[in-house]
Amino acid sequence: MSANDFPPVTARPLDLDRVRADLRARRLGFALHYFALIDSTNSEARRRAEAGAGDGEIVIADSQAQGRGRLGRVWESPPFANLYLSLVLRPNLAPAQAPQITLMAAVALAETVGSFLGRPAAIKWPNDIFVDGKKLAGILTEAACNSTRIEYVILGIGLNLNYGTESMPDTLRHRATSMAQLCGQFVSREKVLGRLIQALDRCYGELESFGFEGLRERWEERFIWRGRRVRVELGDQLVVGRALGIEAGGALIVEDDDGRRHSIVAGDVIPLET
Ligand code: BTN
Repeated sequence: MSANDFPPVTARPLDLDRVRADLRARRLGFALHYFALIDSTNSEARRRAEAGAGDGEIVIADSQAQGRGRLGRVWESPPFANLYLSLVLRPNLAPAQAPQITLMAAVALAETVGSFLGRPAAIKWPNDIFVDGKKLAGILTEAACNSTRIEYVILGIGLNLNYGTESMPDTLRHRATSMAQLCGQFVSREKVLGRLIQALDRCYGELESFGFEGLRERWEERFIWRGRRVRVELGDQLVVGRALGIEAGGALIVEDDDGRRHSIVAGDVIPLET
């Protein structure tokens, strides 16, 4: 075993009583539903939302058999090492504002991680947290809306904590990192979970009270490509220009060399310089 591998000191389940005892949150986490193994916490949270689960209920698992990421990708979910959680949210927002939940969660996640590392974590649009050029966490948001309002949003978060490089599959080893790798020591999942729920609680309240404008600056100052030249492939259209920031609707703003602004809702964004 190398110094880069961080197996849990004891491979033990999350101690949610400890998390509950220290939790200071207004809306989130009053119900924490724990599973040793689940298909996907997002799937379970969706099933619960359909059955009437309230705003702020959280599903959390020690491992997932079918953890998933964006674009149908697999989210590696080995037992006891990391955090896998999904929140049921019933925000007072219009359907067009649903992407703001992802932006809000990215700010909360980056602030939490940054507070443990003692240095900033970067947000990679639309939903990743990066440190030292490697992915540390991902967000998967799934919304159910009717024509006028959001019925619920499932906010799924995967955060690598005590995931050693040697335990990662070859496809991840050079692209992903974990808190333990960054800190050089084992990290308490309970402490990070508690602080993350509190940060989400605070940012969620800010989003509802003040709209995305209240969070925009904190999102943009962590934006990994801010001011950098990027190339965006939008089907058969290509935009090359400078990434400026984010719109309240969640679109990335890119200004091309002719000074035209483009709102990028989806697409592959590739940085052109370091
Ligand atoms: C991504 O980076 O593509 C998003 C990854 C989201 C992973 C989390 S783990 C908890 C929740 N349950 C899932 O199946 N996915 C999300």
